Amino acid sequence: MAEDMLHYFKQNKYSYLIYLDKLNLHVLGLGASYWKQVISTLRDIIPVYDKVNRVISLGKDDLYRYEGISGNVKSGDLVLDAGSGFGNMSLTTFKITVDKVRIVMYDPIYEMLQSSRQRLVVELKSSGIFEYMPFKDNTFDVVMCGYSLRDAINLESAISEIHRILKKNGRFLIVDLGKPDNKIIRLGVSIYLKYIIKIFAYLIARQTGLKFQTLYGTFVKWPENHTLNSLLKKQFSQVYFSTKLMGGSIIVSSIK
Ligand SMILES: C[S@@+](CC[C@H](N)C(=O)[O-])C[C@H]1O[C@@H](n2cnc3c(N)ncnc32)[C@H](O)[C@@H]1O
Repeated sequence: MAEDMLHYFKQNKYSYLIYLDKLNLHVLGLGASYWKQVISTLRDIIPVYDKVNRVISLGKDDLYRYEGISGNVKSGDLVLDAGSGFGNMSLTTFKITVDKVRIVMYDPIYEMLQSSRQRLVVELKSSGIFEYMPFKDNTFDVVMCGYSLRDAINLESAISEIHRILKKNGRFLIVDLGKPDNKIIRLGVSIYLKYIIKIFAYLIARQTGLKFQTLYGTFVKWPENHTLNSLLKKQFSQVYFSTKLMGGSIIVSSIK
């Protein structure tokens, strides 16, 4: 078995993740097979993503992006927008810094990068996954993940890679759904994501909207807030974990 694993790992890290998935050894993250389903759904919802997302986040998605970015990005930074989609985080970053940053957009879905916001003039658009990033050690001042880290195939590998490519004292910003530590509140958020979102999404985007149910699947696999906090603390020197909507949304800033 050890030889088998080595073979997979040598081929490339993605095959290695698939191998771990087959053995059911991954600890946190979507796992390779479920991740493929999520990516295929994300491709399908590209045309309606923003509209539906605005409503199901109770109009708060952009507000939280804004709050996270204002506290973590400054003029002159080299920023990686990881899981950029078509660039909502990048767009907000340019607005806040009045274009005085350099941004690399990074996403596994090539079509998302292609249909990125017209106004965006970025350093580079690159396609790939968190778990294996084509960037050198100590490259970025900031890595930001807006509603994307939850889709990691293997969460610990993703966090390690992000840590590796950040400069010393670099900042890792996560803006995402949170999984409340309190059981009752967690149940409330689960019910919202599993049942209520379906109705909103259907009203806005009909059959395509129903695909937003995937959100619930990714929430199920997402760690509770205290677990994510501990995971980040294992690698980063400081972690500032801020919760919104009773823990249902998080803005986390970690310093290398
Ligand atoms: C919900 S969209 C968020 C897009 C954007 N950041 C925003 O704020 O609206 C999640 C993005 O994460 C990307 N993604 C999913 N799994 C990923 C992975 N393992 N590595 C990097 N990006 C990933 C998806 O392709 C998708 O574009």
